[in-house]
Amino acid sequence: MSNRPKLVVANRKMHGSLPDNQQFMQSLLLHTQQHHARYAVCPPHPYLYQAQHILQNSHIAWGGQNMSRFEKGAYTGSVSPVMLKEFGCTYVIIGHSERRQRGHDSDESCGERFEAALKAGLTPILCIGETLEEYEQGETDLVVVRQLNPVIAHVGIQALSKGVIAYEPVWAIGSGKAATPQHVQAILSFIRGHIGLLDEQVAEKMDLLYGGSVNPSNAAQLLSMPDVDGGLIGGASLVADDFIRICQIANELTELKTAA
Ligand code: PGA
Repeated sequence: MSNRPKLVVANRKMHGSLPDNQQFMQSLLLHTQQHHARYAVCPPHPYLYQAQHILQNSHIAWGGQNMSRFEKGAYTGSVSPVMLKEFGCTYVIIGHSERRQRGHDSDESCGERFEAALKAGLTPILCIGETLEEYEQGETDLVVVRQLNPVIAHVGIQALSKGVIAYEPVWAIGSGKAATPQHVQAILSFIRGHIGLLDEQVAEKMDLLYGGSVNPSNAAQLLSMPDVDGGLIGGASLVADDFIRICQIANELTELKTAA
């Protein structure tokens, strides 16, 4: 188990409004002031300027939910890593299953965008995870390796450690049915082991998150698993009180580890 502070990231997907975001971010700031865990908020792109305005010089980071691999060009509807950086983003989510499933993100393009994010000085959060069918076929290990290897091949093992990996089983996302803590631990430990085959130090320091129906009731169990460095939170980040409760749990776990 690492001594890293837990990392909790709000994936607000296509939700929010100026007043709602303001209320969310301000109450998050207020209720997590003395915390030692790490937090980030990923709102839809138009709200990054607002996030920058409210969160700058605070302990809370912010990030984008997706980006192009190109710096600029004729890519209507896309956002470049340089633009995210200009709006102060620390993180960017890459390869979320909601994008992979709609055919936007291939395993290879995730590698290219992971690299482009690093080049722009962003920390990519690479999402990987199996569908229900793959889960039922017992193919989870195969799937996460299939999604991870092209990224490693593209950027190299050292660069991988500059990002974050979020294991998000597709069947657990937004379904209200989180994976069991035992399943999450088994898969994250497998992922860490897989990385460790290439470089043990990278495996050791890699931030591995779990995402999929994390809520205030299951967060303590999920986040206390030894290989879980934090969570990527969708639905429960839409209600400030729920997200703050998850942050409090992450902070308590962080403080427990520091005291140990
Ligand atoms: P969820 O979403 O917490 O609503 O399941 C997580 C995610 O999609 O990142």
